[in-house]
Amino acid sequence: MPAPRANLCMAAGTHSTAGRDRPLSSHDCASAEPRGAPGDGCALVLFGATGDLTRRKLAPALYSLSRRGMLPQRFAVVAFARRPMDDASFRADLRDSVARLAPRLGLAEWDGFARRLHYHAADPTNAAGYTGLRDRLAHIEAEHGLTGNRLYYLATPPDLFATILGRLQESGLTRPSTEGGPWSRVILEKPFGYDLASARALNRLLRASLDEEQIYRIDHYLGKETVQNILVMRFANALFEQTWNHLYVDNVQITVAETLGVEGRGAYFDRSGILRDMVQNHALQVMTLVAMEPPVSLDADSVRDEKVKVLRAIRSLSADDVDAHAVRGQYAAGATGGVPCDAYTAEPGVPSDSRTETFATLRLWIDNWRWAGVPFYIRAGKRLARRVTEVVVQLRDAPDVLFARLDCDRIAPNRLTIRIQPDEGIEIAMSAKEPGPTMCVHPVVMEFDYRKAFGDDMPGAYERLLAHAMVGEASLFARDDEIERAWQLVQPVLERWAASPAAIEAYAAGSWGPACSNALLAADGRRWWNPSLRAPDP
Ligand code: BG6
Repeated sequence: MPAPRANLCMAAGTHSTAGRDRPLSSHDCASAEPRGAPGDGCALVLFGATGDLTRRKLAPALYSLSRRGMLPQRFAVVAFARRPMDDASFRADLRDSVARLAPRLGLAEWDGFARRLHYHAADPTNAAGYTGLRDRLAHIEAEHGLTGNRLYYLATPPDLFATILGRLQESGLTRPSTEGGPWSRVILEKPFGYDLASARALNRLLRASLDEEQIYRIDHYLGKETVQNILVMRFANALFEQTWNHLYVDNVQITVAETLGVEGRGAYFDRSGILRDMVQNHALQVMTLVAMEPPVSLDADSVRDEKVKVLRAIRSLSADDVDAHAVRGQYAAGATGGVPCDAYTAEPGVPSDSRTETFATLRLWIDNWRWAGVPFYIRAGKRLARRVTEVVVQLRDAPDVLFARLDCDRIAPNRLTIRIQPDEGIEIAMSAKEPGPTMCVHPVVMEFDYRKAFGDDMPGAYERLLAHAMVGEASLFARDDEIERAWQLVQPVLERWAASPAAIEAYAAGSWGPACSNALLAADGRRWWNPSLRAPDP
């Protein structure tokens, strides 16, 4: 199979700037992909098609791609689910969901898109469903002029992955691609495994029926514009690289904070906890992009090789280290945004004596030349004070010889903040002279705001990921070794926490988490830079 080409450029033929389309120029993207070629035609076979993910994310993403002219010209969706339904009712169902959940898209172009949607009602555990799928696909492919390229999207609970993959293989539906022949690819939704052993088992299972280049493991954070921009910021600018190392960086703080609780997913979340739900995947992925060396090219394996090197260089925690480097909490009743909310243990589906963590802080060390001695602090949590995902790179203090004796605030260290969401952008906190007769130093912020620069029309993460999978561009998907190493890193923490369930600290919903998180940084003489006010925790 020809190696997939790097294609970091989203638009097929135009870029939208502040609401206006302009033709792409050669400056726009680092892609060898021909403009206007959103991949070969293909059928997207969607397992779990009546589930929440399809309604909330996949249907709006596909429709939005269609509106942007970014679906292949020849394209069809074949939804596979148990619920008896025909094409017409499936189309109506998705139309309602898009109207309700993504109203900004409008429905003006819906009918043209809906003609590409088909529904195959079958039991995913039953072989007959796949014989039926083969026949149905042949029919639909003929109708849409497709040549047999197939993208299978497993948006089902993970306990169905093995069955679906086995059945697809038995029915000859996932054969490895041959040179010039049709391809088949499989996208797997998270969670990818429950721990190291189950992730390894799932990788073994995938390898038994697919080549690695056929496999696309989703971490939707990798599809976010601002996460991708970490590489552009670092490697398309000369400004940052000189300081991006242990000589200048004091510490790095990665915050993945939500105001939401578990939103009706109490039973799932209680088995998972925040470490599995957000840290093993999203937070560690962001950390690898912040810390990696420049890849030799933007192709999938070059990028992923560098990310894996970071994961390998992260110091493994021994069971005895866990308590010193990892703390957790669970939200008690409180209020977010002025709205009172219940404790985690009062959420539907959560046992009243649950000890599952809804908040975690880790201190990690990367034992390589660039980062030796620089702590990376990760905090992730539900029901925190603000919804914000960001990376703060705090530089070492400037030599305090000139301004220290002046009668003004203590000079704060420079900080570069990568605002992943919301308020997407980058800011640099620095010091400036306050106008006036005295030499008074004052903190100020220099800012790049995504929306001001590029307009509001940012493609969502799932749009990006679907578009990339269709052109065979895997750099935004996690590779087997990446996932396993990430599990290996959190495994001692999972085990230690499972063995000491009582040692969990409560925090009020709407706060910045339990006191032990602040204490962990305070023990190093540091503090969290809070997203809202850029002020230390109270
Ligand atoms: C998912 C987690 O992977 O990411 C959810 O399972 C979490 O618990 C969600 O709410 C957050 O995604 P985003 O894109 O809203 O930050």
